[in-house]
Amino acid sequence: MEFKLICKDIRKSFGRLLVFESINFELTNNSSLAVAGKNGSGKSTLLKIIAGLLSPSSGEVIYQINGKKIDKLDWFKFVGFVAPYLQLYDEFTGYENLEILAKIRGVKDYKRKIEDILKRVNLYARRNDLVRGYSSGMKQRLKYACALLHDPILLILDEPTSNLDPEGVEMVWAIAEEQKKRGILIIATNEPEELKICEEVINLDELKLKAKGQIVK
Ligand SMILES: Nc1ncnc2c1ncn2[C@@H]1O[C@H](COP(=O)(O)OP(=O)(O)O)[C@@H](O)[C@H]1O
Ligand SMILES: [Mg+2]
Repeated sequence: MEFKLICKDIRKSFGRLLVFESINFELTNNSSLAVAGKNGSGKSTLLKIIAGLLSPSSGEVIYQINGKKIDKLDWFKFVGFVAPYLQLYDEFTGYENLEILAKIRGVKDYKRKIEDILKRVNLYARRNDLVRGYSSGMKQRLKYACALLHDPILLILDEPTSNLDPEGVEMVWAIAEEQKKRGILIIATNEPEELKICEEVINLDELKLKAKGQIVK
């Protein structure tokens, strides 16, 4: 199965603020892209547009399987997203958070799957505790479990190692490497270490300078 993500001439503005324009790229299975740029350059905005959580002001994002366009209503089946601003259900346990998602996403035989994923992110021992009582690192681990539950072909990570201890960072590296073998990985980051694991880089600062004619490429 060939999955393709196409970003065609994406532009986004909030009122009079132009965040970026002319974003063009295509990614297929076994590829990775880092989105770099200063704070406020639009990294999170671009990731949300790619995931379908936000609409571009103009241009188009396309998900394709074997050349066939996927309806936007079905994108959720193909994408996993981890970001500091995504919310978990605080009044439910870690296990229940995953169970709710599994039901929404129609994951089959999810009990086994949830247990496996909880072990993978090292939260199994705390699975029946309320998320309200989790540390920020534990919440970040649970977000990884949520994003990976349905084996997404497109994994999008915004500031992937924020709040994680060294062992958590190792977990992220392993997840990233696996994702590159299975599908597409997109990371928004300014950490040189994280930029290095991706084959391609879009730098939103350079893109802006280029648009102003200050960088000739
Ligand atoms: N919902 C919004 N309404 C208005 N402005 C926004 C909104 N979201 C982001 N912005 C603005 O867009 C720019 C890019 O933000 P963001 O994508 O969060 O940058 P980054 O992730 O690179 O730090 C910033 O100037 C930010 O203030
Ligand atoms: Mg951001």
